[in-house]
Amino acid sequence: GSTALTVRGARATDVARLYEICLRTGAAGSDATGRHDPLLLGDVYVGPYLALSPDLAFVLAGADDVAVGYVLGVADTTAFEERCDVEWWPGARERHPVGSATHPGDAELVRLVHEPERTPSAVTADFPAHLHIDLLPEAQGSGGGRRLVEHLLAELRRRGVPGVHLGVDPENLRARGFYAHLGFRPVPAVTDPAAAASDPDAA
Ligand code: ACO
Repeated sequence: GSTALTVRGARATDVARLYEICLRTGAAGSDATGRHDPLLLGDVYVGPYLALSPDLAFVLAGADDVAVGYVLGVADTTAFEERCDVEWWPGARERHPVGSATHPGDAELVRLVHEPERTPSAVTADFPAHLHIDLLPEAQGSGGGRRLVEHLLAELRRRGVPGVHLGVDPENLRARGFYAHLGFRPVPAVTDPAAAASDPDAA
């Protein structure tokens, strides 16, 4: 159970494990192994966070100190996206050149590496922070997700960040229910109701 799990800051030695967790939860919350190049999903959703926002990266670790889940946060999404352009995407483009897709789900991710999305200012104005969270199946459903999110929100509050948003796959009904239960609500500025949510309690 989660009582044996502790929340701690992520370390450089966690990188490979967090890439693995990302892949094993990357198909709308289910295992995406076989759908993607093993490093591609992590190079989009994990690597830049550990490299550029390490102080807001937390893991849930077992008694053996091995991570079974993580939450990765960014306080200022626009500044993060600008830094990624300079400090992250160039290296990722070398690892994943145009046309390098080898697995069924890779094409869309390779496109993201080469044409990164920009979060609209209509979202970042009120909710400048954002987060990603993934727990391995054996760590799900025991309060670990809540512990990680609350740990990150407390740190964002401490920094005076006024709001946080996130994006959820419309097919990921479990995560959508989880976020709604924790108080996240659809962002009014986003017309696609599946695209993002925000946490008024983070104010
Ligand atoms: N509907 C309603 N309530 C829910 C749901 C749901 N689908 N799921 C969880 N809850 C409630 C729980 O009952 C619990 O309530 P309580 O604290 O008031 O008793 C609370 O939410 C917290 O639940 P946890 O046990 O902490 O949830 P868990 O540890 O499973 O974490 C998570 C949720 C992060 C979605 C986890 O299941 C997971 O990692 N899934 C696979 C990967 C994934 O889908 N990640 C999200 C991708 S989207 C993104 O990162 C932006």
